[in-house]
Amino acid sequence: MSQGFTLWFTGLSGAGKTTLTEAIVPELRARGVKIEVLDGDEVRTNLSKGLGFSKEDRDTNIRRIGYVARLLSRNGVGVIAAAISPYREIRDEVRASVEAEGVKFVEVFVKASLDTLVARDVKGLYKKAIAGEIKQFTGVSDPYEEPLNPEVLVSSDNETVAQSAATIIAKLEALGLVIPLAARAGGA
Ligand code: ADX
Repeated sequence: MSQGFTLWFTGLSGAGKTTLTEAIVPELRARGVKIEVLDGDEVRTNLSKGLGFSKEDRDTNIRRIGYVARLLSRNGVGVIAAAISPYREIRDEVRASVEAEGVKFVEVFVKASLDTLVARDVKGLYKKAIAGEIKQFTGVSDPYEEPLNPEVLVSSDNETVAQSAATIIAKLEALGLVIPLAARAGGA
């Protein structure tokens, strides 16, 4: 059985967590890794349906994602979690629960300046948040606590998706969680 892990993306809405996940999944599958994705927007339509964006509900959401990530990753699955996960304490709590299983937790901070996000505004939510039409919007009217020591930092302000994806895969390879393509082709 291959070694499982939890790759945990954190960052503001629109920073690129989902885009990066979509770029990385085929790369990891090509390296023979079994992958499951727990994406914030998707989790909120099923596992966390009914939860809102108060601190309490966000914490519940993150704990649920962390719980599933722990179960899967201790059974050899590479789990990618992609939710804003704005609170450091809860991210660290999830990290501790995953690491207690002897499983690596790799935190990836997907950094983007608010200016960039407001200019991009793919979902049109920042405009509404700034106008006060959405309350408690992360980065505008609700906190986001940056990771202090993430395993990986990528910046969607000045990196392409391909560059950020390559940085993340290189980290997984360096940690011995993923076998480099070249080594596989060489016949292990
Ligand atoms: S988290 O804070 O609990 O980690 P999660 O990643 O699941 O958040 O959901 C964030 C997504 O919900 C955003 O990308 C956005 O589409 C939507 N959303 C709706 N309201 C808010 C809000 N008040 N703050 C942040 N995101 C919101």
